[in-house]
Amino acid sequence: MADTSSPSLSSSGRSSLPADDSFRSYISGGWADRPDGTPAPRIAAPYAAARRLRLSALHPGKRLIVPAGPARVRSNDTDHPYRAHSAFAHLTGWGADAVPDSVLVFEPVGDGHEATLYFRPAAGRDTTEFYANAAIGEFWTGPRPSLAHVAADLGLETADLSAFDAVLDAVDADTLLVRDADPALTDQVDGRRLLAAVDAETVEEEGDATLARDLSELRFVKDEWEVDELRAAVDATRRGFDEVIADLPNAIAAVRGERVVEGTFNRRARIDGNTVGYDTIAASGPHACYLHWTRNDGPVVPGDLILIDAGVELDSLYTADITRTLPVNGRFTDVQRRVYEAVLEAADAARAIVRPGIRFREIHAEAMRVIAAKTAEWGLLPGTAEESLGDGQWHRRYMIHGTSHHLGLDVHDCAKARRELYLEGVLEPGMVFTIEPGLYFQVDDTTVPEEYRGIGVRIEDNILVTADGCELLSGGIPRTADDVEAWMGSLA
Ligand code: GLY
Ligand code: MN
Ligand code: MN
Repeated sequence: MADTSSPSLSSSGRSSLPADDSFRSYISGGWADRPDGTPAPRIAAPYAAARRLRLSALHPGKRLIVPAGPARVRSNDTDHPYRAHSAFAHLTGWGADAVPDSVLVFEPVGDGHEATLYFRPAAGRDTTEFYANAAIGEFWTGPRPSLAHVAADLGLETADLSAFDAVLDAVDADTLLVRDADPALTDQVDGRRLLAAVDAETVEEEGDATLARDLSELRFVKDEWEVDELRAAVDATRRGFDEVIADLPNAIAAVRGERVVEGTFNRRARIDGNTVGYDTIAASGPHACYLHWTRNDGPVVPGDLILIDAGVELDSLYTADITRTLPVNGRFTDVQRRVYEAVLEAADAARAIVRPGIRFREIHAEAMRVIAAKTAEWGLLPGTAEESLGDGQWHRRYMIHGTSHHLGLDVHDCAKARRELYLEGVLEPGMVFTIEPGLYFQVDDTTVPEEYRGIGVRIEDNILVTADGCELLSGGIPRTADDVEAWMGSLA
């Protein structure tokens, strides 16, 4: 953000605009009045307000600055689709429709804070921005809401972004900032700290880092609205998988069939949600062994498996994160099924222990117990499963990644939380995370018999911790080998 005025007007060697007064006057007039009704608060508003109260209680006396962040350049004057910073979305309830460069400010008042949302409201049609600013002008990117509209919609005090300069002027030792949302604004705040003779390094390393940590930790337990959003994200993701399966003949026929799979899933994500929550992994055959294969430029070949790791991010910015591994021709071979069922057993064993009170890291340990047992049983390890689970860790060659991560606004949610609350943390009702064991036998791995080489399987589900156990949010997406085959048969 940084610059609280409008981004500069478009001017380049390839464009010209009439600049004379008579044109300005002509283009500014002749528009019908546009009523700007006051909407009812959106469903997310009271939940976001409750989150703001929890954050406020953690930082008495501190001014907190939470930027949405700017539009990010993709190339030259072309931006990526806009996405607000997740902490900003969490505290405002403003998702895909957030206005770029907005800033949420908590001003300390008494024992608590007053929160104000600064943003660039609708510009009048008598401004040159209206028609001449390709970055933000209404002629180019569509209308923005008014201050009153957003205040009612989100249940927040609002102010024009131009007034944010006063917040910058007030920056002091008790001002904390979310640093990674808006690099230019971070530079400005750091500059103000220097001017105010604040020990900027200490404030950054202690204050700002603590704020980032707290914002991550506030997101561990999802409220009921967030859980509903995650359910809806999983439902949309199921529709995407259905369409991918129905479209597999086109993927098989294409030279870059993985791109067909990616495109089919991503189309559903754009129709039902904001976009995908992360780049879709469409990994066919041996590509499935590359954990984050997003190049997706390979063929889809009958007889192989295809691993699809994909999630729809809704307009609220909550995302699902689901992996299914499918036999391209609809039937698992014996060895594919053997590997698949071992991974499924690991997933089910891990989920079976989930309930409030256990530690997060126990989920991974439980999955590893099965992965070690299976790889030992198949003769792949240079020792027993017990030895491998001890110092050997040989089984990790075939599953190098962790089994679970928290899920929410970010696909890897709560990432700045303390280890003692994340990996070592104790599960509570309302937590949502993935369980995603896998087995990956690289095509040139001479430690495994040839029949295993080139097989990669991951099964990833989204789990909600309940009062006495857990709920498999993605249980509606077929998981067992038999159910996967029936699913594919029903959509063929
Ligand atoms: N899709 C990335 C992950 O499963 O963590
Ligand atoms: Mn995941
Ligand atoms: Mn995933």
